Amino acid sequence: MSTKRTYILAIESSCDDTSVAILENDRVLSNIIASQNVHKEYGGVVPELASRAHQQNIIPVVETALRKAEISKEELHAVAFTEGPGLLGSLIVGASFAKSLALGLGIPLIGVDHLKAHIISHFINDNEAIPEYPFLCLTVSGGHTMIVKVDSAIEMEILGKTIDDAAGEAFDKIAKIMGLPYPGGPLIDQYSKKGNADAFKFPHPKVKDLDFSFSGLKTSVLYFLKKEVENDPQFIDKHLHDICASVQKTIIDILMKNLVKSAKQTGISHVAIAGGVSANSLLRSEIHRIGKEKNWKVYIPKFEYCTDNAAMIGILGYFKYLNQEFVDQSITPKARMEF
Ligand code: KG4
Ligand code: ZN
Repeated sequence: MSTKRTYILAIESSCDDTSVAILENDRVLSNIIASQNVHKEYGGVVPELASRAHQQNIIPVVETALRKAEISKEELHAVAFTEGPGLLGSLIVGASFAKSLALGLGIPLIGVDHLKAHIISHFINDNEAIPEYPFLCLTVSGGHTMIVKVDSAIEMEILGKTIDDAAGEAFDKIAKIMGLPYPGGPLIDQYSKKGNADAFKFPHPKVKDLDFSFSGLKTSVLYFLKKEVENDPQFIDKHLHDICASVQKTIIDILMKNLVKSAKQTGISHVAIAGGVSANSLLRSEIHRIGKEKNWKVYIPKFEYCTDNAAMIGILGYFKYLNQEFVDQSITPKARMEF
């Protein structure tokens, strides 16, 4: 790693969190996240409200991040921002701010892929362990679910991905069916702790190779609950913990099954998880348990680097800075990105 001190300001605004981080090389000096509560009552992120909230949050969050890092704007070497994928209106706020700041300060601008940043968040220096290449990364967020073979910060290959809903989306949609607020993933995790994971059985999907599917599970939970609630309107309240634990176990089992398969197929025994769902307590304990059985070296990101944050944009931004991979002012954010 370079001995020069490089200061990068990173902006993440792909969904419903406005986040700004300052990194000194691979070390996080500040990582500020302003979460948007406006979406809770709608049961999901409302894009128009998200971009308006980013617009309100961006300046105070940048100022707080700089203040907390005790860095002045003039000391920055580059500005990194999320180029995509994500909600276009939200991305535009972060991208426009990043472009103006870089232009005003006369420093390079770095466009970062949000999903690759989730994976590379493992290289932030205060994680428990830093992966060795190549490693496999189960990347599980609200919009994506995939198994990635990671050869370097730049070279990555998708080995399998979801053909419909993402794992986080499955958590959130099933939570919504149960009448829980958005985002339901962390709540299902919390309620599962007091539940019996074997109380109810839900089906596993039939998909080829290393791909995933979660929409069938969502439909099966929907019909199951509909039937039970017809017989007993209090069914969900009475069995909330058991339903959550059974759903959570099914989702994590589906994820782990393919991760085991991919490690076997590739012969790679360094295995990581990343993305919002990697905050899930069962996934974290299962990868440890199974990893021990299979003799894997397991990497779990620090809790604060699992869900969306700008520190992960900053670390990938830092590697791109070292490679001199800059973008110019004509850059536009993208709702979808080629991986
Ligand atoms: O990576 P992320 O913060 O945003 C996207 O890039 O999508 O992931 C958000 C997703 C949501 O679906 C949320 O419900 C899920 O991660 N999530 C969890 C947990 N914490 C966040 N799902 C299950 N258990 C959790 N503890
Ligand atoms: Zn994310």
